[in-house]
Amino acid sequence: MEKITIFDTTLRDGEQSPGATLNVQEKLEIARQLDRLGVDVIEAGTPVNSPIEMEAVSLIAREVRRPIICGLARAMPEDIEAAARALEKAAHPRIHVFLSSSDIHLMHQIKKDREEVIMMAVEACKRARAHVDDVEFSPMDASRSEPNYVYQLLRAVIDAGATTVNIPDTVGYATPDEFAALIQGVFQSVPNIGKAVVSVHVHDDLGLAVANSLAAIRAGARQVECTINGIGERAGNASLEEIVMALRTRRDYFAFTTSIDTTQIYRTSRLVSDLTGIPVQPNKAVVGANAFRHESGIHQDGVIKERSTYEIMNPADVGVPGTTLTLGKLSGRHAFRQHLEEMGYTLSDEALTRAFAAFQELVTKKKEVDDRDIEALVTEERRNIVEAYHLDHIQVSCGDHSVPTATVRLTTPDGAVLADAALGTGPVDAVYRAINRIVQVPNKLTEFSVKSVTEGIDAQGQVTIRLESEGRVYTGRGAATDIIVASAKAYMNALNRLIAARQKR
Ligand code: KIV
Ligand code: ZN
Repeated sequence: MEKITIFDTTLRDGEQSPGATLNVQEKLEIARQLDRLGVDVIEAGTPVNSPIEMEAVSLIAREVRRPIICGLARAMPEDIEAAARALEKAAHPRIHVFLSSSDIHLMHQIKKDREEVIMMAVEACKRARAHVDDVEFSPMDASRSEPNYVYQLLRAVIDAGATTVNIPDTVGYATPDEFAALIQGVFQSVPNIGKAVVSVHVHDDLGLAVANSLAAIRAGARQVECTINGIGERAGNASLEEIVMALRTRRDYFAFTTSIDTTQIYRTSRLVSDLTGIPVQPNKAVVGANAFRHESGIHQDGVIKERSTYEIMNPADVGVPGTTLTLGKLSGRHAFRQHLEEMGYTLSDEALTRAFAAFQELVTKKKEVDDRDIEALVTEERRNIVEAYHLDHIQVSCGDHSVPTATVRLTTPDGAVLADAALGTGPVDAVYRAINRIVQVPNKLTEFSVKSVTEGIDAQGQVTIRLESEGRVYTGRGAATDIIVASAKAYMNALNRLIAARQKR
């Protein structure tokens, strides 16, 4: 069976999702997990964008040796030089050059004619090839471009040294039949196409990204660009896990393989969600919380009798954690660490100490603790932030006939203990106001959601929040059996990220 190359762009297009900014260490952590997942190419970022982006791509290029590491560049000398510098130490470097090809973009955005664009693209690919042997070219907005012009452009860039030509549906406009026809046209009308790999990069504005990618594969594409959880610009990109599981589950139909270790999918999905702060919708295919849950009695009955009656994939194949845990009240730190490692989490000593303390507290409060609870605990520890303020204590008084009041105590790394109190419209509002009185960083809370980690009245609540400050979005998460405490933790998590980002700037 032929293999489809999986090009992951979570760290580049995925990071373009509003609020998804990752720091350098978080990017490296995700790149390492993508390596474990088995992706063929990691698009690590756009080095010219900022010194942080440059640092992240260089670090990933140095540390992650198996996959191809790719840096994105506009068809401009400075972008290509920056990408080449960032990839200097990579074992397998690739420069990905892009330039618009649609008349809409040419006329309104880049203000160049078609001939000029071909010349720029050719120059850019030659320049990139002077640095690396592996060069990818993307005619941006290809699906809204005149097909014959796209074919002409592809022919020119392949002659200039492009080894992969990627056809983007930049604004998620195409339908599967149309997109497949465009790809077939590439094979029929680009005479030197045999010298390059044909790739696709599809956005999900009409919810067709995965369908379009799969249609393109059937039409001859052999590389797909995708992201974990489908995150990305606007409505996101084609989701890696959906493409991979479609190819695997319907191997009878597609007849292709990938190099993905599917048992790493769930873990990768959680890591990306935790670090970007973008939650996975419960009904999301493959990795959503409900993807393998059966609600109706008839379905439950069928699955108990024979799993395949209502399940086309085995949850274990995508690495969904079991619900049985062999740890309890008497488990020690060593057993806890070992269990985390079996779940695929490696924490620093400091983070482990905090997670273990939280675990010990949880087992005294909750009758049954399972892997989903443990996951919620480590989520906070994995969010790689230096805490400018640590939540030490909160106390709340509320009820239907009283004014919600909160007292909060925070500590700082230099040992200061800061306490304040506030009234609010509800207990969470009171806690947030008390925190604001201490921290004094202007921000606006734009999203607040709470969900239950497991079933049962004693379940932990996991709170996810988003706040905005100076035009940037920051996310925070917190989990606890008390949802007011979880809310406070989530707020502190987002505030600490905000403060860290400000200090970095
Ligand atoms: O969507 C797009 O066209 C892109 C290109 C840079 C490939 O992200
Ligand atoms: Zn894109």
